[in-house]
Amino acid sequence: MNTHDPLAQLLADRAFAREAKDPCANLCVIATVDADGQPQARTMVLRELGPRLAIFCNETSPKWREMSNSSRIAITVFLPSANLQYRMMCTTEPVPATTVHESWQLRPEPPKRMDWFYTLNRPQSAPIESRDALLAQCAALDLPDPMIAPETALGLYVNPEIIERLDLNQPEGIHDRRRYQRCDDSWVQTVLVP
Ligand SMILES: Cc1cc2nc3c(=O)[nH]c(=O)nc-3n(C[C@H](O)[C@H](O)[C@H](O)COP(=O)(O)O)c2cc1C
Repeated sequence: MNTHDPLAQLLADRAFAREAKDPCANLCVIATVDADGQPQARTMVLRELGPRLAIFCNETSPKWREMSNSSRIAITVFLPSANLQYRMMCTTEPVPATTVHESWQLRPEPPKRMDWFYTLNRPQSAPIESRDALLAQCAALDLPDPMIAPETALGLYVNPEIIERLDLNQPEGIHDRRRYQRCDDSWVQTVLVP
């Protein structure tokens, strides 16, 4: 057992990456298993809501079910500016709608419009005849005034249960790889062969 908190370390490393203008500072890759048992991975914004990590997505996307129904999802963060990789196994838990909707108001107009498109026209990831049809249908949407978030705009807290940190910044060139497993309020650390 040790007192090192890898989640606090991740937040500090992301803060460093943001300072360094790292384009990956706020991103992650999330892997799920789809309804056919196939692996799926996609880039998403990994948000910080206070000290907690969260992702926002639309309920119409198949990934919403994949993320909210499975017991765990896998998340990878790579911070090129810091030469660090994090791999995490996480449980998920809904973010309160009021928190999602407040944050949704800060989004630019096009993603807001897309959230309404998923709700009123077609689910995210559904096929559509053409890009021209997409743009025309988006432009023709009857949006609420004042603009509010649709019920389908949702968020999930991601709670890391296992965090693996790979630090490439080693003077002898042998990477430093450590796995941290949550155990009640602390973390059990294991050094792994990199
Ligand atoms: C830099 C970047 C950030 C992204 N952030 C999000 C996000 O926060 N939420 C989201 O639903 N999709 C995000 N996407 C789009 C997803 O990668 C993906 O294309 C989309 O959600 C459809 O994925 P699905 O078919 O697995 O539902 C992002 C893509 C990129 C390139």
